[in-house]
Amino acid sequence: MVFLGLLSLASFFFAFCQAAVTWNATPFNPSSIPLAVRTPYLSTWLPQGSGSALNAVWAQHWTGQTVGWAGFIKVDGTAYSFLGDPRISAPFQKATQKSMQFTSTQSVFVMSAGPVDLTVTFLSPVEPTDLTKQSFPFSYMALSVTATDGNSHSVQIYSDITAEWVAGDITLPVNWSTATGGTLVHQVQLQNQTVFAEATDRALYGSAFYATTSASGVTYQSGEDLVVRAQFVNNSVLLNTADTGFRPISERWPVFAFAHDLGKAVNSTPSTPVVVSVGHVRDPAISYIIAGGQLQDRSSYFWNQFSDISDAITSFTADYANALARNTKFDAQVQKDAVAISVDYAAIVALSIRQTMGAMEITISKNSDGSFNTTDVLVFMKEISSDGNINTVDVIFPAYPLLLYVNPLLAKYLLAGLFEYQATGQYPNKYSVHDLGASYPRAIGHNDGADEPMPVEESGNMLIMALAYAQKSGDNSQLTTYASLLDQWTQFLIADSLIPESQISTDDFAGSLANQTNLAIKGIVGIKAMAVIAGILGDTEKSQNYSTTAASYVTRWQTLATSPDQSHLTLSYGDSASWGLSYNLYADKLLKLNLFPNVVYQMQTNWYRGVQQSFGVPLDTRHTYTKSDWSIWTAAVMTDTNARDAFISAVKKTAANGLSSQPLGDWYETKDGKPEGFRARPVVGGHLALLALSSQTASPVNSSSSPSASAVDVPSGARNIAVPLPFSWLGQLLRRGSWSGLRFPGVLEPPQRSVSRIFVLHNSARIS
Ligand SMILES: *[C@@H]1O[C@H](CO)[C@@H](O)[C@H](O)[C@H]1NC(C)=O
Ligand SMILES: *[C@@H]1O[C@H](CO)[C@@H](O)[C@H](O)[C@H]1NC(C)=O
Ligand SMILES: *[C@@H]1O[C@H](CO)[C@@H](O)[C@H](O)[C@H]1NC(C)=O
Ligand SMILES: *[C@@H]1O[C@H](CO)[C@@H](O)[C@H](O)[C@H]1NC(C)=O
Ligand SMILES: *[C@@H]1O[C@H](CO)[C@@H](O)[C@H](O)[C@H]1NC(C)=O
Ligand SMILES: *[C@@H]1O[C@H](CO)[C@@H](O)[C@H](O)[C@H]1NC(C)=O
Ligand SMILES: *[C@@H]1O[C@H](CO)[C@@H](O)[C@H](O)[C@H]1NC(C)=O
Repeated sequence: MVFLGLLSLASFFFAFCQAAVTWNATPFNPSSIPLAVRTPYLSTWLPQGSGSALNAVWAQHWTGQTVGWAGFIKVDGTAYSFLGDPRISAPFQKATQKSMQFTSTQSVFVMSAGPVDLTVTFLSPVEPTDLTKQSFPFSYMALSVTATDGNSHSVQIYSDITAEWVAGDITLPVNWSTATGGTLVHQVQLQNQTVFAEATDRALYGSAFYATTSASGVTYQSGEDLVVRAQFVNNSVLLNTADTGFRPISERWPVFAFAHDLGKAVNSTPSTPVVVSVGHVRDPAISYIIAGGQLQDRSSYFWNQFSDISDAITSFTADYANALARNTKFDAQVQKDAVAISVDYAAIVALSIRQTMGAMEITISKNSDGSFNTTDVLVFMKEISSDGNINTVDVIFPAYPLLLYVNPLLAKYLLAGLFEYQATGQYPNKYSVHDLGASYPRAIGHNDGADEPMPVEESGNMLIMALAYAQKSGDNSQLTTYASLLDQWTQFLIADSLIPESQISTDDFAGSLANQTNLAIKGIVGIKAMAVIAGILGDTEKSQNYSTTAASYVTRWQTLATSPDQSHLTLSYGDSASWGLSYNLYADKLLKLNLFPNVVYQMQTNWYRGVQQSFGVPLDTRHTYTKSDWSIWTAAVMTDTNARDAFISAVKKTAANGLSSQPLGDWYETKDGKPEGFRARPVVGGHLALLALSSQTASPVNSSSSPSASAVDVPSGARNIAVPLPFSWLGQLLRRGSWSGLRFPGVLEPPQRSVSRIFVLHNSARIS
């Protein structure tokens, strides 16, 4: 035991002694820096640990697989690498990283290369109110050069991607082509395409693209990495030639490159940015179960505006300056809102937004004539890194504050598939389904009812989320259409939420337990939410009935769940020494129900003050780990700002501790800040919990079908996301193994598939 303790102490020190951050990091140096993060497959990060410069390591997919992205700059004939870790025989130096700054949409590096500074801006747009733009799976890299010595210099810039952008298995054969119109577009894909299939969390179909606007001084080349890179380093120009020897990703590594000649007069005025765009496109994107067990192919929303992919790429690539302006404005709004809470809070929020948005895809279906049905919008979210489920209710739930903040309509479209599927009557249990399918991108439902059962958890989540959307948007259509499903789930909560049977909650890795205090909170809030919903729908009697039930449950719950000395809520009834994060109280605040008495909030605020570890308050007394999303939810219900800020600062301290090189993890040890097995999960959208609370209710959604109507405004806030296999596998095991097998097969309401979506949002918005 002592020996083990010493070992971990040693590795802890090692991590800190390595401290390699020699640049200015603003607001802090995170575990991994988002570079191109827009979908579960276009998710490219710069791993940090204790600090790695942009040109010290290769970028990685969120799974940890290398994603080759290399860059050189030549200044007066001298070559410097600025991106990736290429090894070639031609001579070059490494640029020196001066700074790294991230905002909600951008990661910006300044690299010093002899007498010039190169500013490298990675912009992964967040366009929550423009479905066309948000659904386009591309990201930008922009490169601008400034002389730092007062003189003029001759400058050329080079960058390339490898075929690692299309698959994790580098032995797979790929083919490629380069289009040379007004936009130069490299395209590369697996030779063997398998639609809707994944291996190690990477799509086994679709294509990767690398594009730039054609102009004089712009050259391209595809070919072996060593050859193409040396061509530029030796000659400052590429040959405008294509390699046609199709082969596996790692066989004489084919790369897809551009070079830009900035001329001889680069001076102290920043040069017009060289813009390259990078993307990963699949069509169809999602397979989705509709009535009668039929599977519907769904496409990314942007397709309704573009007849072919090259038009879309041209439009996106040319739109950089506007995209930068829009996203800089978005960043500023988020910063303003978040810094009003605290500086640490703003830093956490900025790191969480691309990660959450990058786990989602916005889709539409086709009409029988092949045209797109733009009123049939569904959003899908991947449960990244924990098991790859699609539209997991208890993953959407923690992420929900972000959606409510950036655009509640996205929240509606995320819930819509869950409602539609259960309304078809194909799902056999009477509580809410856990997810829409075991494996992204196949939303094929669970007609056998054998999804991971979280009866109280998911039923409560659906009720809470449905009401929250209606409150923020003023749009009650989902409540109206799915009233009977909502009521069905409420019956289940009335039966099982005051004295919850032994079951798992969303924190399934912690194991199952009976009489969970926090789960009971969720169920009771769910009942009260249905009381409010019934009121909205005009059923006063039902509303009264559920209100009375919820209130009486709260009174009984308080007795069951409070420790005998009245110092804290217990983890489970009767276990007086136990406690946990009662983060479900957040739903009481979010929905403005005032259901739980203030004395409960005050008691918990006082209690958490005394149980802080170095890296936060443990999730509960069964373990010493915690969750960042639930920590921030708990922060949001504290009755004083010191207690609130202690939670926030602990999350920030962990995110900045240099002990991980994975995209922001939401699960970690409170004693030493070490990461547990989750990374890159969209649940970090829960870090926006305080913003969703303070944002005003949005103006009512305009239900007119005017295509250009700016139907939804963003609430006070912003105008406008394998694990190497063992982790995935471990996640599966943990999730499945801990469950006892409770089932509640039941009767279901008659199928109701007459869904009418009445919103048409920014239909006419084009990417340009
Ligand atoms: C690449 O392979 C796919 C499928 O094998 C084929 O459809 C496509 O035309 C090929 N593309 C090129 C550029 O050879
Ligand atoms: C194509 O890929 C699928 C899925 O990975 C695999 O089952 C199949 O054997 C492959 N076919 C060929 C010809 O490589
Ligand atoms: C680049 O120059 C090096 C010598 O510095 C030479 O070995 C190599 O063959 C050249 N490669 C190309 C593609 O020009
Ligand atoms: C488009 O989708 C909506 C929502 O699913 C549906 O009500 C409508 O009938 C569809 N339109 C056509 C032409 O199929
Ligand atoms: C749950 O709590 C109730 C009320 O205190 C008690 O009657 C019941 O035995 C508890 N169930 C378990 C499994 O501990
Ligand atoms: C609610 O209605 C049910 C069924 O009509 C009834 O059994 C129950 O007593 C009512 N509960 C309350 C609190 O009014
Ligand atoms: C909704 O949009 C229609 C058409 O653009 C407009 O005439 C109407 O005034 C709008 N209603 C509201 C409440 O904004």
